[in-house]
Amino acid sequence: MTIRRMFLCGMAAISMLVPGASSGATQSPGPTSDARLIVDTDKPGPIIDPNIYGQFVEHLGRGVYEGIWVGSDSSIPNVRGIRSDVVAALRKVHIPVIRWPGGCFADGYHWADGIGPANQRPQGINAAWDKSAETNAFGTHEYMDFLDQIGAEAFVSVNVGSGSVREADDWMRYMTAPTASQPGRSRTANGHAEPWAVPFIGVGNESWGCGGNMTADSYAATFRNYASFLRSYSGERAKLIAVGADTDDYDWTDRVMAQAMMWRPHPTPLAYTTDQPLMWGLSLHFYTFAGNDWRNKGRNIGFGTAEWAAALARANLTDELIRRHSAIMDKYDPDKRVALAVDEWGAWFQSEKDAPSQLYLESTLRDAVIAGLSLNIFNHHADRVRMANLAQMVNVIQSLILTDGAKMVVTPTYHVFDLYKVHQGAALVPTEVQAHAYVEGDTRLPGLSVSASKDKAGKLHMTLVNLDPARASTVYITLRGGRWRTATAQTLTADRIDTRISFDAPDPFIPKPLPARIVQDQVELKIASKSVTLLEISQ
Ligand code: AHR
Repeated sequence: MTIRRMFLCGMAAISMLVPGASSGATQSPGPTSDARLIVDTDKPGPIIDPNIYGQFVEHLGRGVYEGIWVGSDSSIPNVRGIRSDVVAALRKVHIPVIRWPGGCFADGYHWADGIGPANQRPQGINAAWDKSAETNAFGTHEYMDFLDQIGAEAFVSVNVGSGSVREADDWMRYMTAPTASQPGRSRTANGHAEPWAVPFIGVGNESWGCGGNMTADSYAATFRNYASFLRSYSGERAKLIAVGADTDDYDWTDRVMAQAMMWRPHPTPLAYTTDQPLMWGLSLHFYTFAGNDWRNKGRNIGFGTAEWAAALARANLTDELIRRHSAIMDKYDPDKRVALAVDEWGAWFQSEKDAPSQLYLESTLRDAVIAGLSLNIFNHHADRVRMANLAQMVNVIQSLILTDGAKMVVTPTYHVFDLYKVHQGAALVPTEVQAHAYVEGDTRLPGLSVSASKDKAGKLHMTLVNLDPARASTVYITLRGGRWRTATAQTLTADRIDTRISFDAPDPFIPKPLPARIVQDQVELKIASKSVTLLEISQ
């Protein structure tokens, strides 16, 4: 094998070695290639913000109704209307933050419809999604109760598109004002005396599209106006997240950063001005499908290796998108005070005709590989990416959980989040990767994606994704710095690239132990083709 090309992927240098033939969709002993990794365990980088493992939930299809909310009179076990099986599954993977109520839904949502006695709430219409019924049974109190039950923080997207600054401020007062205030008394009358913490506020959603059809310049002006009035009345300063770009709309990022990052310079410093950026974060939305055509996303089941490769190639673009948006942000914010919040990402394939609800997708091994690859990329950009929210947590697009009435399953993506949770709050560690390329037709990708971190207890964790659907890999890892004594690994794979989860059969994706040998400063492990692996190394 000879070295053909050199790519830079975050902190990892990936050398592409000439590949052999790559074909076939099922697992077999098949070809194997060697990969070499060097890990500088004593050079910790930025902390991986736990919020990179955040989620997004929208009133859409069965995402909220059935997926989370069943009502307290349901035969499905629940606590105050919130289904207990879903809560238990989410607690296990340590969900740090949940963005709600949308999505496109958010810019048509009027929060006051979702408070007060359930039987007096308006029977509304979900204007964003097919004019379906919106009972408003799940509103602010239910969302906060849900967060409490799973131990996550709030990220509320306020209505900019069809709302007003006044409405958004009233919502913040209702949620966060002291108990003795008028908004606090209303909240108390509805069952919650204590103010809630609302650490993150999304100022609109996709204001360039469904959220108002604005130009970057008009959004920047709108954001400045909202930012002047939106605040938390309890706890810390609210972190405002401005609407950022869709995919590669670099001009949007440039204009919003240029015009909306800071207070207008004022001749006399005033009490209300600050030298902190107005925005805590700027968002980015990026979805993966098989190819680059929104109208032809490709099937989510029954696909072949060409669509496997096309989807992974698109997911791999995440790295370039973050690098380029971040470079633009650097012009205005070289110290990286403003986070890039990838607050919608995930694999969005064509829904099958018999899909029981809107944007419901069955879940396959490909989703796990996309999740592993994307999360490794986010980890690599931990200096700028300080939040990411998978779209959407239950029953919609790339979910962690699927339900069918009373039945519930966790998806392959869920297992990836479970394996990767060890990175939350750990320090990114530099990795250098030499691995074969995965080639499929004209698509050429790094065969192996890796990220590594060191946690507070001093344990090293590496997550390795083998993108190649046919070629296993023997990985030799050189550990520089420290004495490392034990290594254990778990891996997730399946027989076929489109193996899917089912309500009626055992879960084929449960990660299994994988032998890992450690000799002096080198670890050796053999990872299967099309797999996601967690390696834990201790001193
Ligand atoms: O996640 C589905 C939709 O995708 C969201 O409502 C919108 O923000 C995006 O276009």
